Amino acid sequence: MPPSAYKAIGILDSGVGGLTVFKELSRLLPHEKIIYFGDTARMPYGPRPDEEVRRFALQIIEFLQSQEVKIVVVACNTATAAGLSCYRQSSDIPVLGVIEPGVRAALEQTARGRIGVIGTAGTIRSSSYEKALRRARPDLQIITRACPLFVLLVENDLVESPEAEKVALEYLAPFKRAGIDTLILGCTHYPLMAGLIQKTVGPAVTLVNSAAEIAREVEGILTEQQLHNPLQCVNPGYRFFVSGSPHTFEEVASKMLRRRIRAYQVLL
Ligand code: DGL
Repeated sequence: MPPSAYKAIGILDSGVGGLTVFKELSRLLPHEKIIYFGDTARMPYGPRPDEEVRRFALQIIEFLQSQEVKIVVVACNTATAAGLSCYRQSSDIPVLGVIEPGVRAALEQTARGRIGVIGTAGTIRSSSYEKALRRARPDLQIITRACPLFVLLVENDLVESPEAEKVALEYLAPFKRAGIDTLILGCTHYPLMAGLIQKTVGPAVTLVNSAAEIAREVEGILTEQQLHNPLQCVNPGYRFFVSGSPHTFEEVASKMLRRRIRAYQVLL
């Protein structure tokens, strides 16, 4: 077993969205250390140009590597769409994105081949989901829409507000009209408002959250490369870093993970 097996799993996102991936990973791989980075000072990534998002993601990957990680999960669709192959080229450890796992999960779920995709402006502009879905099944009917305000609602803990309901109704109306059977939550923030999204599109639509699929992919790589942490610790150690003020992140994260989360600010 390589000595790097003792190292942690690194996760990055622009904010709290990647915690949906953290949650699945810590459930599936309870003996693994995890280091999480939320780029809250520069969030949201969605409206930013690809080149900028790529630069931010590369900086964070460098930081995570300085913290001794053995694998990096880019738990952000916008950053995945902006340059996964570039992160892979510049790194000597495995780097995973979230789009391919989401596509696989949607293909398994869809019954009638009518798929909706929601994501940030950057992700939707990239057409990454659409291209990957069509490559696998050219007969699919796909409709996509950017829902930028969802990220701000989640980051500001406003998911249960009347404003959130209004925004969801407006964003999701075209999907209801199109009669989709599956909706890909193409932004890691969106599973944090899955209840409202489900209520808005109705019970006949299956929501796809790629977090569980990503966790399985990480497990597969750790097995293949013999990188599972040999120490079977009950509390392997989780560390959370943010680029902005830790306060709101700590609040949202503690609520979501149902335990007190402390985050430390790092200036990149
Ligand atoms: N959670 C991220 C994503 O999956 C980024 C959201 C944002 O910062 O706009 O795209």
